[in-house]
Amino acid sequence: MLHGPNLNLLGQREPGIYGSLTLDDINHQLLSDAESLSASLSFYQSNHEGALIDAIHAAAGIHEGLLINPGAYTHTSVAIRDAIAAVQLPTVEVHLSNIYRREEFRHHSYIAPVAVGQVSGFGANSYSLGLRALVQHLRQLSGH
Ligand code: DQA
Repeated sequence: MLHGPNLNLLGQREPGIYGSLTLDDINHQLLSDAESLSASLSFYQSNHEGALIDAIHAAAGIHEGLLINPGAYTHTSVAIRDAIAAVQLPTVEVHLSNIYRREEFRHHSYIAPVAVGQVSGFGANSYSLGLRALVQHLRQLSGH
């Protein structure tokens, strides 16, 4: 699970848009979701594009898939998109808010074309839904 920029401020950051749960709350929920799916999960948050790219590279060969909320880098980062394409890890993109109901500049995702799919607009539940979708996708790929 990769959390992009400003998501460390969840809980205090624009709660009308992003809700009142903190990143820790979301991670705890995801851990229990992972447990019920019999999947293992680790977390990383960074406000830095290069650090996120390093984490994507480091995931190759260690993790089977990526769940990512790229934050504002969704709309700007060719480099994060290229990193995902390079490691070829099945990736699910998640957003708390529905990015298509918001400002025009949020309507385009550089990540979506290299992702298996996207979950956007369900608040913290976007993460749970995204994790479930990713795990099921990986199980279908491996035939389990
Ligand atoms: C976000 C949506 C982005 O447009 C925004 O820059 C974020 C959070 C979301 O989860 O809704 O930082 O990715």
